[in-house]
Amino acid sequence: MVEELQDRVAVVTGAGSGIGRSIALALAGEGVDIVVADVDGDAAIAVADQLRAVGIQSISLQVDVADRTAVLELARVAYEHFGDVDILVNNAGVSLRPFRALWDTDYHDMVWLMGINFWGVVHGYDAFVPRMRESGGPKHIVNTASTAALRITPGAGAYTVSKSAVSAFSICSRSEFELAGEPIGVSLLIPGPVQTNIDQGERHRPASDRSENRVVKEWISYLQHGEPTGGGPLPGNPSGLRADPVDPDVVGQLVVDAIRENRPFVLTQPAPEMILRDRLDQIITSGRDVT
Ligand SMILES: NC(=O)c1ccc[n+]([C@@H]2O[C@H](COP(=O)([O-])OP(=O)(O)OC[C@H]3O[C@@H](n4cnc5c(N)ncnc54)[C@H](O)[C@@H]3O)[C@@H](O)[C@H]2O)c1
Repeated sequence: MVEELQDRVAVVTGAGSGIGRSIALALAGEGVDIVVADVDGDAAIAVADQLRAVGIQSISLQVDVADRTAVLELARVAYEHFGDVDILVNNAGVSLRPFRALWDTDYHDMVWLMGINFWGVVHGYDAFVPRMRESGGPKHIVNTASTAALRITPGAGAYTVSKSAVSAFSICSRSEFELAGEPIGVSLLIPGPVQTNIDQGERHRPASDRSENRVVKEWISYLQHGEPTGGGPLPGNPSGLRADPVDPDVVGQLVVDAIRENRPFVLTQPAPEMILRDRLDQIITSGRDVT
């Protein structure tokens, strides 16, 4: 477990805004040196400047996590500059707007979204984990999923798929490190609604590839039910409510605490308990012994 954070080194992707920025600032508050990575190079520079102004060693890099070569370069630069990396935060992520059914989610939407949300995490592992294992000592990885992976989220199918993949990847990798006795902890960050720029997730998507160039029918049943753009109750399922959005500033400290305690899950709001229990009940009661 990475209990003592002072003078550790962390790489945070998507650290130019929102949750990633909050994690970078919270880690820096514990004396961690930070590599700020973001596809928005100016935003990354601004965060690194802010960290250096309070005495933290920080460098920034413009990185598209969907690009394996760029993430390998991120790792090369991080190790060249700091000599070691103790904490990897695979946080960069995007979502599609307007919400749409999977039949309105075309191949290019799916490739773009999975490229960042899922392959971005795979690229992070590919570039950093061999060196993290080799250098020895306690290390930690945080992967950002979403409550979309806990609930059935019609209208956000591609996002739900990508975050479910991150969730499975994370949970498996944590078990493997544990079983192999390797001192690398893994936490899955599962944010509910957080007030960030996630609604403008397509701002860095190549214009020629954007959905506004196509006719996409907005998935409106969510709006009628106050989900996921509003906050109202889902009829008959009060604990499946979409929670009120939280300030991104609180998320970083939750992640810091989870790293210290090597906690498997970090939630920003209460879990959608009834949805989870309903799903588990349906799975359990569907089990058959056909031998
Ligand atoms: N805000 C929420 O309500 C919410 C809820 C659940 C999960 N999440 C997840 O939290 C993570 C952070 O999102 P946020 O809410 O802070 O949004 P945000 O848009 O404020 O921040 C995301 C950052 O990632 C960067 N980014 C986007 N594409 C990138 C790429 N290809 N390579 C590198 N960086 C890239 C953006 O430039 C931005 O700085 C995402 O994985 C998101 O899916 C957010």
